[in-house]
Amino acid sequence: MNISLSSASLTEKEKKIIEEIFNSKRLALGPYIKRFEDKIKGYFKVKHAVAVNSGTSALHLILRALDVKENDGMIVTPFTFISSSNVALFENAHPIFIDIDPFNYNIDLNKIKKSLNDTNHPLFKRINKLKDIRFFMGVDIFGQPIDWDKAIAICNENKWKIIEDSCEAIGSEYKNKYVGTFGEAGTFAFYPNKQITTGEGGVIITNDDEIAKLSRSMANQGRGDSNEWLEHVRLGYNYRMDELSAGLGYVQMQRLEYILKKRNNVAQNYFDLFKNDEKIVLPKIEEYTTNMSWFVFVIRLSLNWIDKFVKIPEDIINFNLPLYISEQERDNWKNLLNKIKKVTYAIIEELNKRGVQSKNYFSPVHLQKFYRELYGYEEGDYPVTELISSLTIAIPFYTDIKFEEQEYVVKTIQKILDEFEK
Ligand SMILES: Cc1ncc(COP(=O)(O)O)c(C=O)c1O
Repeated sequence: MNISLSSASLTEKEKKIIEEIFNSKRLALGPYIKRFEDKIKGYFKVKHAVAVNSGTSALHLILRALDVKENDGMIVTPFTFISSSNVALFENAHPIFIDIDPFNYNIDLNKIKKSLNDTNHPLFKRINKLKDIRFFMGVDIFGQPIDWDKAIAICNENKWKIIEDSCEAIGSEYKNKYVGTFGEAGTFAFYPNKQITTGEGGVIITNDDEIAKLSRSMANQGRGDSNEWLEHVRLGYNYRMDELSAGLGYVQMQRLEYILKKRNNVAQNYFDLFKNDEKIVLPKIEEYTTNMSWFVFVIRLSLNWIDKFVKIPEDIINFNLPLYISEQERDNWKNLLNKIKKVTYAIIEELNKRGVQSKNYFSPVHLQKFYRELYGYEEGDYPVTELISSLTIAIPFYTDIKFEEQEYVVKTIQKILDEFEK
C-alpha cells in the first residue's frame, strides 16, 4: 500500500464547475468570486468575506489594514506554519514568540505575562529594536482553538489587536462559536491539504468595514472605490483569488459539513485503532472545543517509550520545563533534542519506506535558518516547542481515506516501534 499524507476530496460537482468556468472563458474577476464570498459570509454570519490567493496573503492584508509599523511587536506561537510569523517580517515588525502548551500545542497563554516580565528571557536578547507590542496573532493549531476567552482578556488588558490565524481550523468551534470570528479579522486557507480547497487560496472574514475595504483594495493593486483599472489610491498587491479557485471553493463550501463529519470519523477511527497504545500520545481535544475541524492527525512518541533508548530526566518526561534553558544547560539540551529527533526521524523514514507517508509537524519557526540568522535564536529559547517538535509525526489523514488504509497505517507504525525495541 502507498497512503498519502493528505489528499483533496473532489467530486463530479467540482469538475462541473471547473468545466463551466472553462467554457465561459471568464477566468478572473468573474461571478464565482462573489458567490464564494457570499457562501463564506452566510456560513460564518459575518459582514465581510474577502477571497484572496492564499492564507498568507490574507494574514498579511489584515496586518496592513491594521496599520502595522516598523518595529511593532506581534505575539505569536513558534509552533506553527511559517507564515503566521513571517507576515510581521514582511513589514519589518517583529514576531514575539511565546512558548506552547505541551498538551494542546497552542500558545501557552499563561506564559505571556511571565515571559514579557522576565528581562532575562532570550526574546529580549534577540529583539533589540522593538517599539511596542500591538498585535496578537492567535493560531488555532491543527484545527484546535486556543482558549479564546482567556486570550481576549489578555489582549484587552494590553490593548493588543487580535488577528486570527484559523487557516487550519475552518469550522472549528470554541464554546459553540466559530473560530475566525474572535478577533478584528480571521483567516482560512485552502491549499489542497486543507479541509476544503481552492487549489491555492485564502479568505479574510471580518465585521469591520474598514479592514474589509482596505484588504479588498490592497488585494487588488490598491484600486479604490471607483474600481477604475488604472487608478490606484494606495500601495497594493495582486493577491486576488482567480475564478477557477472561487468556483472550486463555492462547491467545497457546500460540501463543508459533510467533509468535516467524515474527517471527524477518520480521526475517531485513529483514536480507536491506537487505543491503549502507550508508546503513542494522541491529540488532546480541550473541553472548550465544542467542534473540532480536523486538519491533520498528529501523533507524538511517548517520552516514556523513548526513555528506553535515550535517558531522559524525569522533569523533562513530565514536561516540567522552564521558560527557557539556562546557558549552562544549553549544550545538554541540544544533545538531548538531537538524540530524540534521531529516533523520531528514523521512524518517519521507515514509515515512508513502507508506504505510509508521514512528516514531522511542525519544525519550530524560531529555529528556521533565516530566523536564526536574523535574530540569533537557538535551541533552548522555547523548550516546550522544541521538545514537542522533536516528537511529532503527522500521519496519513484525509476525507476519503479508507478504513483499511487507516488499519494499515496503525499496524505499520506499531510494527516499526516494536522492531525498534529489538
Ligand atoms: C497556521 C497556518 N497559517 C497560515 C497558512 C498559510 O496559508 P497558505 O499556504 O495558503 O499561504 C497555513 C497554511 O499552510 C497555516 O497552516
